[in-house]
Amino acid sequence: MTGSTAGRRTAIVTGAARGIGAATAQRLAADGLAVAVLDLDEAATTGTVEAIESAGGRALGVGADVSDAEQVQSAVDRIASELGPPVVLVNNAGVTRDNLLFKMTESDWDTVMAVHLRGSFLMSRAAQKHMIDAAWGRIVNLSSTAALGNRGQANYSAAKAGLQGFTKTLAVELGKFGVTANVVAPGLVESDMTRATAERLGRSWDDYAAERAKGIPVGRVGQVADIAHAVSFFASEGAGFVSGQVLYVAGGPRA
Ligand SMILES: NC(=O)c1ccc[n+]([C@@H]2O[C@H](COP(=O)([O-])OP(=O)(O)OC[C@H]3O[C@@H](n4cnc5c(N)ncnc54)[C@H](O)[C@@H]3O)[C@@H](O)[C@H]2O)c1
Repeated sequence: MTGSTAGRRTAIVTGAARGIGAATAQRLAADGLAVAVLDLDEAATTGTVEAIESAGGRALGVGADVSDAEQVQSAVDRIASELGPPVVLVNNAGVTRDNLLFKMTESDWDTVMAVHLRGSFLMSRAAQKHMIDAAWGRIVNLSSTAALGNRGQANYSAAKAGLQGFTKTLAVELGKFGVTANVVAPGLVESDMTRATAERLGRSWDDYAAERAKGIPVGRVGQVADIAHAVSFFASEGAGFVSGQVLYVAGGPRA
């Protein structure tokens, strides 16, 4: 083990106040990492931080907008000094602004690009310095099966496909410094984001999930822990020879 002053490595999980990010933060803490729980609003991170601490882990709640370069730099600086140099980064923060192409506004497009693509770029650029200093690092980016095309998600699909190219380039550039970069691409996972989608379609979550599950080979929708497990693998010590890969975690080849 190298890394934080507490003798354990430090991870940052963005968008970790809820959903997949919260589950991933808790999983990485259980794996032995100190975890920065980053989200738009520091107060919203309290639940995740308390869950980690009550399970015996170490966590720090940090408020920052990942699409804002200055906020990203100060968040990463604060994490490095208060928790230890971040050598694991999970770019999970995300938003949707779904609409059919002819109804999609420029703001719908720009918002999704800003959070997913610009956010992952800014966070990776700020954190890589600490990984290179440590000669060890893991970057895991959250894509989606939407990268393969999804009605009503031209903006989100483009961003999630873009993240795959971004990750492969990080893998090429950073490999010689002991840093890997990989993608976890979930299918449908129960979270606030997908509950909001069901609601927008005028469906109860249970009906929506049951119908979608019929098209998923394993016969169920995903849970946040399914995704956290895949992220944990890419972040692990033993995954150092796995880089530039895209792992679909979708209950089938492309649910
Ligand atoms: N839930 C799914 O079915 C699913 C499927 C595929 C991919 N994903 C991806 O997984 C990730 C997590 O999704 P989720 O379902 O847990 O979403 P969620 O909406 O439940 O949580 C997303 C979190 O990101 C935070 N966030 C949004 N914009 C931010 C910003 N600019 N800066 C910092 N934090 C910000 C939100 O405050 C929120 O806490 C997203 O990237 C999403 O696109 C989700």
